[in-house]
Amino acid sequence: MPCADDYPQIAKELRALLEDETDEVAALSSAAAVLFHRLDGVSFCGFYRAVEPDTLVIGPYQGPVGCLRIPLGKGVCGTAAAERRIQLVPDVHAFPGHIACDATAQSELVIPVFTGSGRFLGVLDLDSRNPDHFDEVDAGELDSLLRLAFRDLE
Ligand code: SME
Repeated sequence: MPCADDYPQIAKELRALLEDETDEVAALSSAAAVLFHRLDGVSFCGFYRAVEPDTLVIGPYQGPVGCLRIPLGKGVCGTAAAERRIQLVPDVHAFPGHIACDATAQSELVIPVFTGSGRFLGVLDLDSRNPDHFDEVDAGELDSLLRLAFRDLE
């Protein structure tokens, strides 16, 4: 079951909130706050930013303290960033090289994030303490929602 039954409504609210917003910190922190409070069963919700050639650096997030830096290609976030592909991981312990910033996390969904002009911003990292918490609906809905939300970022 998806972790929200009202994705179109969440997308609409976030789009309205970020209308004409061109500041990255304002946009990413607002998105992290909205999603953390609107998605069920999420323990960590935040962004890792592609601001260095080989390393992701943590951005705005909600939840327990996350790792500050993740090498590109390492763990779930690093893999999503290197391949620019969504990672839906039902069991983090079965993911080779998983980085356990939060030892209680059991499943994850990581989505590459782009600006309206197509620049790669980094990834959205969603963690849950429930195994197999996220599904394909979450992946697809959040992917579209983020593209819409960050449309006004350069
Ligand atoms: N588990 C992630 C690292 C980030 S945190 O859990 C906040 C990963 O393997 O990419």
